[in-house]
Amino acid sequence: MAARCGWRSVYFLPLCYRAGAAPLRRRWELPNHGVSSQNRGNRHISSPPSPAFAGATYTELRELCAREPDTFWGSVASHRLTWSSSFQQVSDCDLNTGKIRWFLGGKLNVSVNCLDVHVAKDPEKVALIWEKDEPGTEERVTYRELLEMTCRLANTLKHHGVGRGDRVAIYMPVSPIAVAAMLACTRIGAVHTVVFAGFSSEALAGRIQDAQCKAVVTCNQGVRGGRLINLKATVDAAVKSCPSVQSVLVAQRTNHSTPMGKLDTPLEEAMSKESAECAPEPMDSEDMLFMLYTSGSTGKPKGIVHTQAGYLLYASLTHQYVFDYSPGDVFGCVADIGWITGHSYVVYGPLSNGATTVLFESTPVYPDPGRYWETVERLKINQFYGAPTAIRLLLKYDENWVKKYDRSSLKTLGSVGEPINNEAWEWFYNVVGDRRCPLVDTWWQTETGGVCIAPHPAEEGAEIRPAMAMRPFFGIQLALMDEKGKTITGNDVSGALCISKPWPGMARTIFGDHQRFVEAYFKPYPGHYFTGDGAYRSKDGYYQITGRMDDVINISGHRLGTAEIEDALDEHPDVPETAVVGVSHDIKGEVAFAFVVLKENVSEQQGKVIEELKKLVATKIAKYAVPDHFLVVKRLPKTRSGKIMRRILRKVAMEQTDSLGDVSTLDDPSVVMEIIEEHQRYKSRLAKA
Ligand code: WT7
Repeated sequence: MAARCGWRSVYFLPLCYRAGAAPLRRRWELPNHGVSSQNRGNRHISSPPSPAFAGATYTELRELCAREPDTFWGSVASHRLTWSSSFQQVSDCDLNTGKIRWFLGGKLNVSVNCLDVHVAKDPEKVALIWEKDEPGTEERVTYRELLEMTCRLANTLKHHGVGRGDRVAIYMPVSPIAVAAMLACTRIGAVHTVVFAGFSSEALAGRIQDAQCKAVVTCNQGVRGGRLINLKATVDAAVKSCPSVQSVLVAQRTNHSTPMGKLDTPLEEAMSKESAECAPEPMDSEDMLFMLYTSGSTGKPKGIVHTQAGYLLYASLTHQYVFDYSPGDVFGCVADIGWITGHSYVVYGPLSNGATTVLFESTPVYPDPGRYWETVERLKINQFYGAPTAIRLLLKYDENWVKKYDRSSLKTLGSVGEPINNEAWEWFYNVVGDRRCPLVDTWWQTETGGVCIAPHPAEEGAEIRPAMAMRPFFGIQLALMDEKGKTITGNDVSGALCISKPWPGMARTIFGDHQRFVEAYFKPYPGHYFTGDGAYRSKDGYYQITGRMDDVINISGHRLGTAEIEDALDEHPDVPETAVVGVSHDIKGEVAFAFVVLKENVSEQQGKVIEELKKLVATKIAKYAVPDHFLVVKRLPKTRSGKIMRRILRKVAMEQTDSLGDVSTLDDPSVVMEIIEEHQRYKSRLAKA
């Protein structure tokens, strides 16, 4: 295989990397703090992250990570990844300036690590189980087939002029061909940007323009919950305003034939004419791998950039240890590839570890609320990783929707994307997991590349507690900061959640705007990465996430800036001003609440304007971003310098007006009463309706 794809003998590397600034000890040495390893917990890691750590306990490895991060990461990187040239230096990072570089001088190819290495060992192993919308119609793709598909797609991209460093937008739901498209980009050194297929044509166009994409890969239609979605039509509308796009490759998900324009190429047909081999491009560790747009508290969505080696290593390591993955397991992460969860735990983590990964195309309630568990039974899923919003939806139905299916294959349950409340945690753990499977609530972000905080049930002394007991992953050093920017010491404290040491999976920049990257993540607390979240550290040192500290909200696990919604609303000619805040919702976690000021002459036609505003948000961003609540007000609460005090609006929207806090800095405090009264009228209208 290696010879066939022109890749040099990369499969047998020394366990320790050569050269390197910090020489790595052959045999890992126990840290000696005068405490015997017996007392500090004696659970040896059954399959250590690198053979150099054989016989170590979790506690010992954690100490090594803290003391000598380069020793840890260097060993793990040389063991777990397949390099075409070894790296010379483990890291070169400075969290004061936002410089992050890992495994310098090394060369590798991500698709080789996700495909070729496994094909060489076991070509017929199933890589993907595509759980299509209709239950019982799943398709399996082996590692050999996925490599072939990837190479054909890579050659197709090449024939369309896509090469190293070029950006490719992928606008498709989760499917084998979408995974092949991601891997095909990595094969030839192109940079993919997957855009969630629920985004509107304008949102897609904005991302394509920012990334200056040369090509778009899409499919004719999407199929979800028994409904057809005309994706190609959305792409057609988007590319009209994207002169950088030279070709659109269109896969056929359904029999529906879509009109083909001059940019369009039928993808499967083109692939069938291409060779099934494609020499992998050797990439520098720090070359761009992909970018993924996500929301910040201000401005347009930002293209978060991840690079090759560090990202892949971190996805691979966290996939194994956070979920207790063992070879042979069927890994079921039901996220869409349009989000980072899909990148790290549907595609890159599982495939780099040679796992069988499930691609879930449907919804939790199609054709009925038993879908997830019927799928678990049929595919014999071992790890099930999903979002609290789906759990909150499902727990409203009869338990029999779960109980009637055999879930004995399940070993680990995982939750991601937003805080999981007690009720959802208990139901997931007790009903789905039969109190038998550890439930890991995993905290991380698009920017962190992989899970950073999660309970670790396999670790010595670990215990399971609802929505709690979260601890940092290997090499993650957490800090809580106070309002003055000082580190908060001790336990039973809350503060701004920061990470104080670099780790390989962290984002490298914001595409085209490194300054924004530095300002958003490294300026607030110099020397630390600021997450944007607040957290509580319990008496015994466990972490619990308390939520965003900025104007980012989380609707059904989808991150959105309230400023983005405001920008969309403000485009309405009759709306001079709006303010959007997040309020809690029992299933979606949070929903948007819009306070809207109308021009005087239109106040009679409120209903009509609100309908138009809903349409605006759906076309500018996505349907899920449309606020659940609109409240027309005469004016917004502003400080003397003209800043809208969203804090007060949030309190009003959440009906917590007895704890409004300090309103003395408002230009005219009487506005608060005005808005509270308007809100009460709104509530009574809702109650009557
Ligand atoms: C934000 C990141 C992580 C992949 C999916 C979301 C929130 C994420 C948790 C959790 C509480 C969580 C945070 C974070 N979040 N996981 N387990 N508990 N909050 O990635 O779209 O980049 O959003 O999601 O607020 O900052 P994302």
